[in-house]
Amino acid sequence: MQIKEEQLIWVSAVSYEDLAVNTGKTIRYQGEEVALFKFSSGKVTAISNRCPHKNGVLAEGIVCDEHVFCPMHDRKIHLPTGLVQAPDTGCVKTYATKVQDGLVYIGFSSAQELAG
Ligand code: FES
Repeated sequence: MQIKEEQLIWVSAVSYEDLAVNTGKTIRYQGEEVALFKFSSGKVTAISNRCPHKNGVLAEGIVCDEHVFCPMHDRKIHLPTGLVQAPDTGCVKTYATKVQDGLVYIGFSSAQELAG
């Protein structure tokens, strides 16, 4: 059997109004831990909650513009892309987000096996 298609499962995470601006919120879903952020522009973004350096909790980091600074050793991560900024290197998994009917949804991947 081959994996032929990847779909997103949209999971409601929090009320959009309850999500504080420039403050990370930890969301857990089926063993995955996500850091959810709302910028002052109102845009919402989500990344894996663990820093690729030594597992710092990114939801506890300081947000500046569209970046979060890891609370452990201050690596700077671009939230929309998950890219660790120079001089450091690395990448954090990103998640799709959407706001619908006042709720913030996170898209989790689900590999679907298709028949035939
Ligand atoms: S654990 Fe994030 S910078 Fe070290």
